[in-house]
Parts: sequence; structure tokens; C-alpha cells
Amino acid sequence: SESITELLDRLCAIVPDYPQPGISFKDLTPVFADPTGLRRLVDELLAPFAGQFDIVAGLEARGFVLAAAAAYASGTGMLTIRKAGKLPREVYRDEYTLEYGSGCLEIHRDEVAPGTRVLILDDVLATGGTVGSAVRLIEKTGAVVAGIGVVLELDGLDGRGRLGEHQVVSLQVVHS
Ligand code: PRP
Ligand code: MG
Repeated sequence: SESITELLDRLCAIVPDYPQPGISFKDLTPVFADPTGLRRLVDELLAPFAGQFDIVAGLEARGFVLAAAAAYASGTGMLTIRKAGKLPREVYRDEYTLEYGSGCLEIHRDEVAPGTRVLILDDVLATGGTVGSAVRLIEKTGAVVAGIGVVLELDGLDGRGRLGEHQVVSLQVVHS
């Protein structure tokens, strides 16, 4: 049967010069749209962390697809870590830089109890700016980062190096 790497090679679309010249965009939407693709991604991302987390955190927007499915599959809840201004109650806020531009993420202050083990999921690890921001937000709440799972890890940007000692699982390393 098809390996996860073969599945990604078959379905992940590479878009040159998007969203700006020089960026080679890795588009996972065909994997999400495949009848078994999303299930394969979630199963592979959860397996290394079995028994090690209490809740899944998804990073807006593309991380939501994975995290919602993973929370359902693992019988846990999901934390929504959102772009600035979207969450209606009291938040912690963290600013970060991206491969292209900068951003700001927020988390509700009271959604997760101190000591809760949080598994962070996102589609792509590039510079690590986004996941690093999510790590800081989770730690502000007093919860604990149980690990980080991403589908694609872009090489040469040292995203993993920015995430300190946290366990990072990627399903495929791709040339950026
Ligand atoms: C993309 C991607 C990751 C992040 C990776 O999100 O979905 O979240 O960039 O880059 P980094 O490791 O350098 O931070 P983006 O902010 O483009 O938005 P989206 O998920 O809302 O599409
Ligand atoms: Mg994103």
C-alpha cells in the first residue's frame, strides 16, 4: 500500500512564485480533498504522540483542518489559536515573523487548565515563526506543550531549531 511520502508526492501541489516571486508554495488542499488523504495525515501525525497529550491545538487557518480531525479521532478537544482580533473574550497575544511578512496570534486565556498537555498541529513548518508563537501562547496559559506535528517541514529555514527542546514530528521534509 501507498506510504505517506508517496501519498504526499502524488497529491501535494507545488506552486512556483506564490504568494510572491521566489516562494515555492506547497499546497496541501488536494490531500485534504482526497477521500483517504486527510485520514492518513491525521493518523500519521497522532501515532508518535499516543498517550502523551490531553488536547489538540490548531493554528488558523490551515492547521484547523488537521487539528479538528485529530481531536475527533483521538477523542480530545481542540484549542483554536487564531489570528489577531478573531477571538471574542480575553486573550493572550503574541507577535511573530513569517517567511513572507509578519503576524499575530491569540489564544483565549481561560480555555485550557494549567498543566494540560497540548499537541500543536499545523500544515507546514517553515521558519517556525508560527509554531513558535503558538508555543509561547500555550505556555502563557500555564499549559504544557506535549509536542508539535506538521505535515511538511521546509528544509534550510531552521524552523525546528527555533522550537527548542520540543519534540517535532514532520511527515515529510521538502526543499524550500
Ligand atoms: C502558513 C502555514 C504555517 C506557516 C508556516 O500559514 O500554514 O502556519 O505559514 O510558516 P512559518 O513556519 O514560517 O511560520 P499562513 O500564516 O500563511 O496562513 P494560513 O494558515 O492562514 O493560510
Ligand atoms: Mg498557517
